[in-house]
Amino acid sequence: MKDQNLFVEGDVNFTSGRKKWYAVLDGEAMDLLNRDKEVFMHQSLSTPCLNVLSSCEGSYITDLNGKRYLDFHGNSVHHTGYRNPYIIEKVKQQMDILPFSPRRYTNEAAVRYAEKLVTYFPAPLNRVLFAPGGTAAVSMALKLARIITGKQRIVSLEDSFHGASLDAIAAGGEYQFKKYMGIFPDTVNVRQPGANDMAAADELEEILKEEPGVGAFIAETIRNTDVHIPSQAYWKRVREICTKYNVLLILDEIPIAFGKTGKMFAFEHYGIVPDIVCLGKSMGAGIIPMAGIVTKEEYNIAAEISLGHFTHEKSPLGCAAGLAMLEFIEQEQLLQKVKEDELFVRNELEQLKKKFPFIHEVRGIGLLWAIELLNTQPEGKDTAAVAEQVLYECLKNGLSFKISNGNVLQLSPPLTISRIELEEAFQVLHQVFSSL
Ligand SMILES: Cc1ncc(COP(=O)(O)O)c(C=O)c1O
Repeated sequence: MKDQNLFVEGDVNFTSGRKKWYAVLDGEAMDLLNRDKEVFMHQSLSTPCLNVLSSCEGSYITDLNGKRYLDFHGNSVHHTGYRNPYIIEKVKQQMDILPFSPRRYTNEAAVRYAEKLVTYFPAPLNRVLFAPGGTAAVSMALKLARIITGKQRIVSLEDSFHGASLDAIAAGGEYQFKKYMGIFPDTVNVRQPGANDMAAADELEEILKEEPGVGAFIAETIRNTDVHIPSQAYWKRVREICTKYNVLLILDEIPIAFGKTGKMFAFEHYGIVPDIVCLGKSMGAGIIPMAGIVTKEEYNIAAEISLGHFTHEKSPLGCAAGLAMLEFIEQEQLLQKVKEDELFVRNELEQLKKKFPFIHEVRGIGLLWAIELLNTQPEGKDTAAVAEQVLYECLKNGLSFKISNGNVLQLSPPLTISRIELEEAFQVLHQVFSSL
């Protein structure tokens, strides 16, 4: 029987594996972890925390002991690497001139970032609204969908995550976030696309046929947390269905936009044009929180309503960081690099799968990968416990990543990662798998 508490978005912070891990940390780190635990609200997947960081650079985070970890998680913000010197310099320049821009005013950094951003989108996606976090971007998208369609209900995928606020969890489907929160009458969940993508699309059509009150279908183009990649036929069909029933197609690309999949935006792999795209995470280059939506000119009709109205809406620092991030991706031709890295990573993971029979599947795209462990482990071992053991042994050996859904090791390094660093990570995985 699956323990629902363990089969969630990320690795769980109250297991026995976590308690054993604390024994590895030294007094100073434990002291700060304890102070953190005393002052912050405790919450699943977050506080109490895993470790204490002192610095970061490139693909690495460094803890209080000076131990470095290759960060294959980075909360999906570290696409261009931590403390990227080109971006830091641009942010410092902005810091000296205009660090904050009160609402009602605009600023050059914000206008330039928005102008640059829309150049990557196909017509008619040319309108931008910024927000200080991904959840807020999802919230704006949902509000806009209500205004455009006049319909309130939402369809989303089972077990999906679109942010942790009440409106975002109402739109999402993950039990971990919905439990104890009461009833969310406006959302219907449909099955995730998977082995039978077209059946999932059929189910969506059935619902839209029966539910005239649905105004939006929201989904991640490619599911980030445990890396599921729908077929092209699925997305083409979903696009047609949404158009047919006057339902807005909202793609949440908050973790995977800006090159993680080898294209600037994941929807480009599918030859479709969504109605609203939600962005976030790496949008502020791992320095300043930045998020937003990009949508169509014809949807710019809500001038008398505040869709966002966030204090940090047009953050000059966030926009300077984001603009520099885009420039860096272009200058360094990172999209091309990610495609080359994809071939290397696929090959390495397939070798691991051949060698270690407890691996069920490896899958991924660009620099977003998953190693899914078999649900039935040798000697009757509990899969979630094995996944945890791998995580903590990898951490001891200087590799950090996230566990998803209890049995998936999610590997999401920065786009800037060097081949030597990738090799280093695979050596650690190999060594740890061999020791199990
Ligand atoms: C798919 C997806 N949507 C939305 C969000 C929410 O973003 P934020 O944490 O910036 O509010 C996340 C964050 O993990 C996410 O992964």
